[in-house]
Amino acid sequence: MITQTPKGTRDILPSESYKWQFLERQIADLCADFGYKEIRTPVFEHTELFQRGVGDTTDIVQKEMYTFLDKGNRSISLRPEGTAGVVRSYIENGMASLPQPVKLYYNISAYRYEKMQKGRYREFHQFGVEAFGSKGPSIDVEIISMIKLFFDRLGLKNIGLNINSIGCPVCRKQYNDKLKEYLRPSLGDLCGVCNDRFNKNPLRIIDCKEEKCRKVTVGAPSILENLCEECKNHFEGLKSGLDNLGIKYNVDKNIVRGLDYYTKSVFEFISDNVGAQGTICGGGRYDGLVESCGGNPTPGIGFGLGIERLLLEMESQGIVIPEQKEIEIYIAAIGEEADIYAQKLVFDLRSKGIAAEKDLMNKSLKAQMKYADKLGAKYSIVLGEDEIKNSKATLKNMKKSEQAEIALDSLYEEIINRR
Ligand code: HAM
Repeated sequence: MITQTPKGTRDILPSESYKWQFLERQIADLCADFGYKEIRTPVFEHTELFQRGVGDTTDIVQKEMYTFLDKGNRSISLRPEGTAGVVRSYIENGMASLPQPVKLYYNISAYRYEKMQKGRYREFHQFGVEAFGSKGPSIDVEIISMIKLFFDRLGLKNIGLNINSIGCPVCRKQYNDKLKEYLRPSLGDLCGVCNDRFNKNPLRIIDCKEEKCRKVTVGAPSILENLCEECKNHFEGLKSGLDNLGIKYNVDKNIVRGLDYYTKSVFEFISDNVGAQGTICGGGRYDGLVESCGGNPTPGIGFGLGIERLLLEMESQGIVIPEQKEIEIYIAAIGEEADIYAQKLVFDLRSKGIAAEKDLMNKSLKAQMKYADKLGAKYSIVLGEDEIKNSKATLKNMKKSEQAEIALDSLYEEIINRR
């Protein structure tokens, strides 16, 4: 047991971590281009925040949260997603008084007690953004275009974008009544969970994956055809904004999303390569969330993009992420004096930003050169008594089998000139 990670969690080893670092750099650049600043919130929050924020009727809150009492008897939960914590922080830190919109992004780990499968873990990672204060569809377009550009920059192709509107509390209430009327005669044919949803959140029944529920909902009225004037105009604004940027989308009236806070626009980026559910990124507008968490009424919108699923997608599209900085030079040494000299040389080169290595294991010269090769070092030199006495050595290009005699005190320049 103690030599195994808990189910649903994974180590990110050096053979993988450079990919994560690459994505983190891409994300930081993307967010800078779009004017989003990074926020870091705690891994755990008061359970009530998620009950209120994510919603009591969601699978996440009902079944999937890692919740425990701390030593002070407070109910604490590991964050199952990023939005609720950011909303809490927006309110707590008085961000309403900052120039609006307030545009934030995060790279986080999140925790859900889910059934493990491809692309679904109990500890997973999200790149997310949240934007507060803007109520028109322009920011919806901005946020979707940001994800599209991110995928384009990574070289990803054929990722579908589905959009929908799930209305506001006014038209949703009317729609829910209509939907319940439609579903009532078939209640016995719905699964247990949907029977429960019937009173608490009937819209979610549309999203149920159970075959018997799908049969019942196939002819159900859709929220999209029951929007109020304002929500309809908002959705039209979103669509024409996406058209304006040349971003292709499908309107999918079955997207309702698994979290309770959404209003108006919802969207998902999907692919067949990332597991059963196929969603790489999901998001939408949540105009009532800040108020329901105790702040002033404030519109908001954001998305969460699963990093594990993104990596799966990149892999299946054959996209290669460049490896981290390679070792430029390996300095092999024969004898104690040369070893001390090598230590100084390596330090000087590193101080100037050149990735250099030397022996740390008392290896033979042959073993040192073998190791240099394994490291993928571009150049090597061998230091012995003569080299130190003459301050000269042979710089060997390990990839091209070329070599040149150089002065040791110009080693830095020699490497730079060959770059
Ligand atoms: P979500 O749809 O629950 O939305 O999650 C967003 C993304 O996180 C998913 O599309 C998926 O890529 C990834 N994800 C979710 N659960 C798992 C899991 N168990 N294993 C691996 N990846 C997973 C949210 O979390 C919202 N907070 C998004 C949002 C932000 N909406 C507005 N602002």
